[in-house]
Amino acid sequence: MLETLEKIRATAIKEIAAATDTESLELLRVEYLGRKGQLTQLLRQLGTLSAEERPLAGKLSNEVKNAIQRELTTRIAALSAGDQRKVEFDYTLPGRRVGTTRRHPVNQTIDELVEIFTDIGFTVAEGPLIEDEYHNFDALNTPADHPARDEKDTLYLRDYPLLLRTETSTVQIRTMEHTKPPIRIIAPGRCYRNDTADARHYPVFHQIEGLWVDEGISFAHLKGVLLEFARGLLGKETNIRLRPHFFPFTEPSAEMEATCPACNGAGCRVCSNVGWLELGGAGMVDPQVLDDMNIDSEKYTGFAFGFGPERLTMVRHGITDIRNFYNNDLRFLRQFQ
Ligand code: PHE
Repeated sequence: MLETLEKIRATAIKEIAAATDTESLELLRVEYLGRKGQLTQLLRQLGTLSAEERPLAGKLSNEVKNAIQRELTTRIAALSAGDQRKVEFDYTLPGRRVGTTRRHPVNQTIDELVEIFTDIGFTVAEGPLIEDEYHNFDALNTPADHPARDEKDTLYLRDYPLLLRTETSTVQIRTMEHTKPPIRIIAPGRCYRNDTADARHYPVFHQIEGLWVDEGISFAHLKGVLLEFARGLLGKETNIRLRPHFFPFTEPSAEMEATCPACNGAGCRVCSNVGWLELGGAGMVDPQVLDDMNIDSEKYTGFAFGFGPERLTMVRHGITDIRNFYNNDLRFLRQFQ
C-alpha cells in the first residue's frame, strides 16, 4: 500500500503540473481527492492492514493528500496569475500570414474606367438604386407602351411607381435636373432587371454611364472619347466601330464595338470568330430630353454612352460565365490581383 500511495503522489503531481486550465485541475482534484477518488478508495482498505502497517499507511496517506492539495492550490494560483500560456515560444518562427483583401474583378474594371474618364475631364456622379418610373422611363423618352416597362423586364417595388433602376441612364436625368451645361459626368453603378441568371445574364449587374453636354458637342467628340476609352482599357491597338441602333433617349444612336483584344480582330473563340466585340450603347442626347430638362437644345448638344463592366471584365480575362462574379467563390475571385 505504501508503494501505491507513492505512485499516486507522483502521477498526481505530474498531471497537475501539466494542466493548462482550471477546468482540468478541477477534474484532477475529483480524480484524486474526490469521494470516489483514487486516494479515498485506497484509504477504505486501511482496515485490512496489519497493526504495524496501518499507522505508517495512515501517516503517508495524509502526507500525499496534503501534497496533492498544495500542488493544486499553487497551480490554480499560477494559472489565474495569467500564466496560462506557459508554452515554449519559438521567436524564430516565421510570422503568421494575415489575410489580405482584393478588389472584386468588376470593381477593378470600374476603377480603371473611372481613371480613364477622369483623365479626360469627366467627374463621377451618382443616383439612387431605387428609382421611379419618371426617371427610369418617362424622362428618358421611353413611350408608355415600351416593352422594357413590362414587369417581366423591370423589377417594380410594391409602392408604384417605385422600381429598381434598369440602367444608369437615370443618372443622366438626375444630373441634368440640377446642373446646367457644361456637364461632363460618368456614373458607374448597379442596375437590376427581371432576368433569369444564365451565362450572359444576371438580375444584378453594373453599368457605367457617360454624359457630355455643352455647346458644339458633336458625334465626332463621341467617337473620340469612345476610342480613348477602348484603347485605355483594352490596349493601344484597339479600334472601334459604331453601328446604327435605337435608344429612346438618343438620336442618332449607335452600338459600339471594339476589335477583340484576344485576336486583334482576326477572329477567335472570344469573339465567336467575328473579330469584333459589342461593348455598349451610345448616341447624341435626343433634343427632346434636353428640352424636358430645361436645357436649350438649340444652344446645347450632347452625347451619352453606357457600358457593362461585367462584360468588359469578361472580355479582358476570357471569362465565359457572368455568374462567376456573383457566386463568391474565393477560388475564382483570388485569381484577380
Ligand atoms: N442605357 C442603355 C442600355 O442599357 C445604354 C445606353 C446608354 C445607350 C447611354 C445610349 C446612351 O441599353
